[in-house]
Amino acid sequence: MIGKKVNDAINAQIKNELESYYIYLSMSAYFHSKSLDGMGHWMRVQAHEELTHAMKFFNHLIDRGGKVVLKDLKQLKTTWKSPLDAFQDAYKHEQFISGTINDLTTIVRQEKEYATEPLLAWFADEQVEEEANAGKIAEQLEMVGSDKSGLLMLDRELAARAYPPGSPLNPVVPAGNA
Ligand code: FEO
Repeated sequence: MIGKKVNDAINAQIKNELESYYIYLSMSAYFHSKSLDGMGHWMRVQAHEELTHAMKFFNHLIDRGGKVVLKDLKQLKTTWKSPLDAFQDAYKHEQFISGTINDLTTIVRQEKEYATEPLLAWFADEQVEEEANAGKIAEQLEMVGSDKSGLLMLDRELAARAYPPGSPLNPVVPAGNA
């Protein structure tokens, strides 16, 4: 059974992951409002990933005999100055989340909650990818600058991102069959 300190820290991380979900969904809405549907789609898939992350912690806490307590989500930004601004925010957010995973790992080790370490190792790996993805797109947007055709080309490229397998929000009914 999991101790109270780790239980509380995991509940805090569920909130972080759900806020990530909410932030990326907000960015998705922003991009769709600018007719950058590829970026809107990319952010929607990212939001799905974050919900999956929250549910990994949620399920783990239940498996370890802990208690899930969902907290209020903080108020979000709903608009950005530019696509670059949004992806730079996403990159900063992923760096923040990497820090929270590191802090959680420290608590888990201090409390000798070794059964949770493999899950956190998975998240440490995942954060390498998460930071790299958002950081790379932010860099590409910097290169594109004010070139509209470059922006549209990148938008089309980002439309190809696939939904993560097992995402609880992945549409069950294929588009067009609803
Ligand atoms: Fe769940 Fe993007 O960190």
